[in-house]
Amino acid sequence: MKIVEIEKLTKKFEGKIAVDTLDLTIEEGQIFGLLGPNGAGKSTTINILCGLLRKTSGTIKLFGKSQDGNHYASKAKIGLVPQEIALYDELTAVENVRFFAGLYGLRGSELEKAADEALKFVGLKEKEKERLGTFSGGMKRRLNIACAIAHKPSLIIMDEPTVGIDPQSRNYILHSIKKLNQNGATIIYTSHYMEEVEELCDYIAIIDQGKVIAEGSEEELINIVTDVRETQIKISDTANDLTKGLTQIVGVEQVTQDEELLKITSKTEVNVLNQVLAYLLAENVEVLELSQQSLNLETVFLNLTGRTLRD
Ligand SMILES: Nc1ncnc2c1ncn2[C@@H]1O[C@H](COP(=O)(O)OP(=O)(O)OP(=O)(O)O)[C@@H](O)[C@H]1O
Ligand SMILES: [Mg+2]
Repeated sequence: MKIVEIEKLTKKFEGKIAVDTLDLTIEEGQIFGLLGPNGAGKSTTINILCGLLRKTSGTIKLFGKSQDGNHYASKAKIGLVPQEIALYDELTAVENVRFFAGLYGLRGSELEKAADEALKFVGLKEKEKERLGTFSGGMKRRLNIACAIAHKPSLIIMDEPTVGIDPQSRNYILHSIKKLNQNGATIIYTSHYMEEVEELCDYIAIIDQGKVIAEGSEEELINIVTDVRETQIKISDTANDLTKGLTQIVGVEQVTQDEELLKITSKTEVNVLNQVLAYLLAENVEVLELSQQSLNLETVFLNLTGRTLRD
């Protein structure tokens, strides 16, 4: 069953296009990754999907129903973990969860049970009586998730839920998402961290400047770019900009230079190494390490847009 069907969705903010005729279909049971750099339009798309923002044009169906007009019934089946933590500092952890689950109509013992389960799920049961104001960033992120899932939504939308947290909390969250999915929820996961999306998602849409520029499983996406490879070269400190000269070499597609690290994307069928090394030698640059990367989503993005995901 198709849980989300978005067609030609467009959102303009005062004439500036944030989402541009975007098409997306999400099937039941997927962990669907929305991967894109800052400003790509991920949050805007999600916020429109949840009814928090008004679209400019296009159509949206949720759970097979058009979302024009009243969509309270669909909203109750969605849990949104917003990008900005939206919780009450002066309330305790359990009071926060009760508040949000209460908005979805849970009452009495049902509410208590739901709050209890959600807090256990994110590993915060022991801290339930503590005020949110005393929580670390990672704990707040986890509570943010508890508040979104207590009412047992069948579609859980997470907007960069791991930004700015320690690796331990991040792993905990990624593990929890897999568990929620195993328990039957469909997940939409937005991130600009390629590694997370690779680890977690079984279907990925790469979005850039408000459009889907590629979609598929990780393998399908990588197949788009099997004709390129990435070479990383660690070099001694140099004040020279080497990117221009290296880009001139036949077969070289993209070059980035970040202090002592060169990243060169080149066509697989051309061996550019001899020429690259000859150029570096001529520029008096010492090569410290050289490695060729296996292809990943970053290479896909670079190949499709000419830019890196994180600039
Ligand atoms: N309320 C707003 N008013 C005006 N412009 C906005 C508004 N919200 C978003 N935008 C613009 O729309 C574009 C898409 O923003 P959006 O927040 O959807 O990106 P994103 O992919 O979620 O990025 P990030 O990874 O930084 O969260 C950006 O150019 C942003 O500046
Ligand atoms: Mg965002």
